Amino acid sequence: MMSYRIAQIRLVNSHPEVYDPCDDSFALVDALLADRTNLLEHRPIFCLEIGCGSGYVITSLALLLGGDVCGSYFIATDINPHALDVTSDTLKAHGVHAELVNTDVAAGLEGRLMGLVDVMVVNPPYVPTPEEEVGCDGIASAWAGGENGRSVIDKILPIADRLLSDKGWLYMVTLTANDPSDICLQMKKKGYAACIVLQRSTEEESLHVIKFWQDPNSKLEANKAKVLNHGV
Ligand SMILES: C[S@@+](CC[C@H](N)C(=O)[O-])C[C@H]1O[C@@H](n2cnc3c(N)ncnc32)[C@H](O)[C@@H]1O
Repeated sequence: MMSYRIAQIRLVNSHPEVYDPCDDSFALVDALLADRTNLLEHRPIFCLEIGCGSGYVITSLALLLGGDVCGSYFIATDINPHALDVTSDTLKAHGVHAELVNTDVAAGLEGRLMGLVDVMVVNPPYVPTPEEEVGCDGIASAWAGGENGRSVIDKILPIADRLLSDKGWLYMVTLTANDPSDICLQMKKKGYAACIVLQRSTEEESLHVIKFWQDPNSKLEANKAKVLNHGV
């Protein structure tokens, strides 16, 4: 088996109801590639992708960390069962492995993974749409993000906070319409620092990949706010 640094498009499987790798998927993988040295030094144990679609991102992450011999354990979820079949084929075609879970965000995994995830990657449904399109059957659920494209993102953020380890990193794709500064502010309130690791404008959209990590100063402020809000 040849070893690749990231997934090869020709080996990525597809299905009419599964999101094919697109500009946003490429932006996320490019951001991971650009951060590869840090990722290798980070030596993550548990890596999680929420919403794996075709498997292009989780396969690339597994490959760039060194594949099945790197000591990392990869898990990917998707609400769309077809996505897990496609991801399984994509992983196999590249000779890497991940545990695949058909669930809403990370439901059912929180007990097991609480505070353990060292790297989380998310390319969420972020397109502003009517709220009723969010989570609907079919391919539209791959991009339908509700008001300001924030419905699924806002559901993921508190879950990410519970799952990430103390040294955990979250890489998330957002669109200008999602108000990335507000997303960073919401995460700051939970004790995370953030930086935009990649910004890319296409004809249709302006994408950002934001990296979040726990910051002792933000954590202190977040804990202070928690205590004050509870009137202790
Ligand atoms: C924009 S696509 C990204 C797919 C893939 N990660 C990529 O970058 O090419 C978003 C993915 O999230 C999945 N998804 C949407 N809502 C979800 C939810 N509540 N829980 C888990 N996955 C979800 C969709 O089925 C879709 O596969």
